[in-house]
This record gives sequence, C-alpha cells and structure tokens, in this order.
Amino acid sequence: MRTQVAIIGSGPSGLLLGQLLAGIGIETIILERSSREHVLARVRAGVLEQGTVELLGEVGAAARLHAEGLPHAGFSLAFKDRLHRIDLDALTGGRHVTVYGQTEVTHDLMDKRAAAGLTTIYEAADVALHDFDGAAPFVTYGKDGITHRVDCDFIAGCDGYHGVSRKSVPDGALKTFERQYPFGWLGVLAEVPPADHELVYANHERGFALCSMRSTHRSRYYVQCPQDDRVEAWSDDRFWDELRRRLPERIAASVTTGPSFEKSIAPLRSFVAEPMRFGRLFLVGDAAHIVPPTGAKGLNLAASDVRYLFTGLRDFYAGKSQAGIDAYSGKALARVWKAVRFSWWMTTMLHRFPDTGEFGQRIQEAELDYLVQSRAASTALAENYVGLPW
Ligand code: APR
Ligand code: PHB
Repeated sequence: MRTQVAIIGSGPSGLLLGQLLAGIGIETIILERSSREHVLARVRAGVLEQGTVELLGEVGAAARLHAEGLPHAGFSLAFKDRLHRIDLDALTGGRHVTVYGQTEVTHDLMDKRAAAGLTTIYEAADVALHDFDGAAPFVTYGKDGITHRVDCDFIAGCDGYHGVSRKSVPDGALKTFERQYPFGWLGVLAEVPPADHELVYANHERGFALCSMRSTHRSRYYVQCPQDDRVEAWSDDRFWDELRRRLPERIAASVTTGPSFEKSIAPLRSFVAEPMRFGRLFLVGDAAHIVPPTGAKGLNLAASDVRYLFTGLRDFYAGKSQAGIDAYSGKALARVWKAVRFSWWMTTMLHRFPDTGEFGQRIQEAELDYLVQSRAASTALAENYVGLPW
C-alpha cells in the first residue's frame, strides 16, 4: 500500500490533519490502535478557541458545533467566598471561546472522513515507524493476523502522549521537559443543568474545583484530589458535598446534584518534547506536548500544530519549498511553550499544593485579588485564555 502522508492516531490531531490534506487532494491513511467506539468513549475537555472553531469550519466539520456549541464571552474566578467574572469579550476586543465536548469534535471529524471515503484502519496492532530519517519512510501494522506495510512520503505522529511515534525517535535526538503535579482531578459528568451560565474556576483551601458543562442540561464538574486517590472512594454524595464546600455560597446553592454517569481521576502534568520533527516524521498534538487541563489548551494546541504542519505540507506538495516543513517544529514550539506557561500558571494559582501550606494559600489569594482588580492583569489572563495568535 502507498499513500502520501501516513497519520498515526485517530484523535483530533490526526483527523483534523487528514481532513485539511484531503481538501487539497493529498492522500492519507490513518492508523488507529483502538476501535472507533473506544476513541469516542473518551471524555475530554471542550473549550475551543476561535482559531480551532475556524479550522473545523474550514474542513466542513463545524455544523453541529455552531448548532450545539455554547459561545462563552467570559468565565468566573472564585476565591475567598467571592465570584469575579473575567469579561473575555471586553478584555480582548470581542473574542470568546466555545464550549463543545472534544468527543463531539472527534465524532464530527470521523463522520467527515468516513463520508469522504477516506481510509482509517482501526484496531491497527503493533504500528511501527521505519526509515523516517530518509526519503522513503514506511509504516507497518498488524491486522487480521497479517503484517501490512504502508509506504509514504511523510509520517504524522498524532498518537498522543502514550503513542509509538515519539518513542520511535532515536535515543538522544529528543529533549523532554516534564513537571508532574502533586494532585489529580476527579471529574464527574451528570445530566443536570450547570451551576452557572459560564465556567467557574475555584481556589479554595480544601483544593481546586471547576464547574463546567457540555450543554444546558449536562454538567461537567471537577475537584482536585490526591494523586493516588481512587474513584471507588468517591460516592456521588461525597463528591457533591466536597464540590459545594469549595464554591462560594451563591454558586454552591445553584449546583443541581444528580447521579453521575461518568466519574474518573486524571493526573496533571506538563510535558514538552523538542524538536517536533525528525526527518520525515512530525510529532503533532499530545504526541509532542501535554498541558494540565486548567487552561483548557490541549485540543487548541493540537489544532495550531496541525495548522502549521498542514501549511508546510501544502507548500511542499505544491512544489514551492520545504521552508514550511523545515519551520514546523520551531513555529509550533513557540506557541506550545506559551500555552504550557499559561496552563502551569493557572494550575499553580488555583490548586492547593501540599508543601506551600497557609503561606502559599495567602499568596494565591493575593495574586487572585490583584488579578481581578487590575485591568492589565485581567487582560493578560483573557488574551491567553481565548488563545494567543497562531
Ligand atoms: N498506534 C496507533 N494509534 C495509537 C497508538 C499507536 N501505537 N497509540 C495511541 N494511538 C491513538 C490513540 O488511541 C488515540 O486515538 O492515537 C490517538 C491520539 O489521540 P489523542 O490522545 O486525543 O491526541 P491528539 O489527537 O493529539 O489530541 C489532543 O486530545 O488527548 C486530548 O487533551 C488532549 O485535547 C487534547 C487532544
Ligand atoms: C471541561 O469542560 O472538561 C473543562 C473545561 C475547562 C477546563 C478544563 C476542563 O479548563
């Protein structure tokens, strides 16, 4: 089998890149380790920057997003039993974010790919990358007991943090940067109306809490928990009680409780791998970087990586130049590190750290007090939250 770009991974990165390339007639094949159902069963954040929405529109996968997504012109910070709205619209000259589940983004992109008759091999086993340091890379994978080979011009490693692509890079060719946070997020989905019309990020001495949503009738909540905590230790009642203890009275009173239909604990880490290109292999999205979800940047960083790589490949195949693919890693990393910094800053400002105690709590409250009283500081927060320029 032969294609132009072999894409590893059928998450947002791989699917979005595949659709953009298909739009200019570049052939791709996506090799996905899991089943379609398994990919769609993942629950992930869904706060989309305008650039991401526009990119989804460019590939014709934004109809449901525009119909069902929730435009948000602001969000609130809660601390010392008070609520402070960050007016994104006023602070950024009219920019906003859209709340729309990442699972839905993935679903919409999968439907577009299938409708165009493009090839995705699900349950592709033992995907392996070969000769990407030369001009004739290829990928092998197992399916139905047979090992298949795909010859290609380029390989896009869109296979996430645990994927094979980054691990295929020769030792010593990669520099990684990592910070593991000393806590996790316990997340709950429930078919109940959200506590507020926008998101609420809460700093509290008992720990961080977040009030989010998937729609006007489906809510997503998180509370900070110990790294080694177990979901089994959290009944719904315990979760709702702890959540409300961490929220200002006005918001706590607005929380509608109900049975959770999804409950999970996720670790928090910051991770960056440099560079993001090795010959004919490009690392994209979570394969190259991970941010704590506090800044809701994961999906949006994947989108900007894809945009940069797409324009480089477009110019290469148009016979223009290699400049775009040569510049990909540097350009992507410049934006990645700004988002990594913002996500780290939001995380350190809002969470309870075991080693900083009451002094650390007072410092966080002082920073939050300054933030909500200073237009300059709020503007800096708002600019990063809606997304820095691509
Ligand atoms: N072979 C083939 N596919 C693989 C392999 C492998 N060895 N390893 C992982 N995959 C698949 C996973 O099953 C997954 O479907 O690659 C896909 C990677 O998707 P994501 O992890 O969603 O990463 P990405 O597409 O970059 O999207 C980043 O999704 O994970 C969230 O928070 C993250 O919002 C961010 C966005
Ligand atoms: C979510 O809705 O899952 C969500 C929203 C915003 C975040 C993180 C998660 O910062």
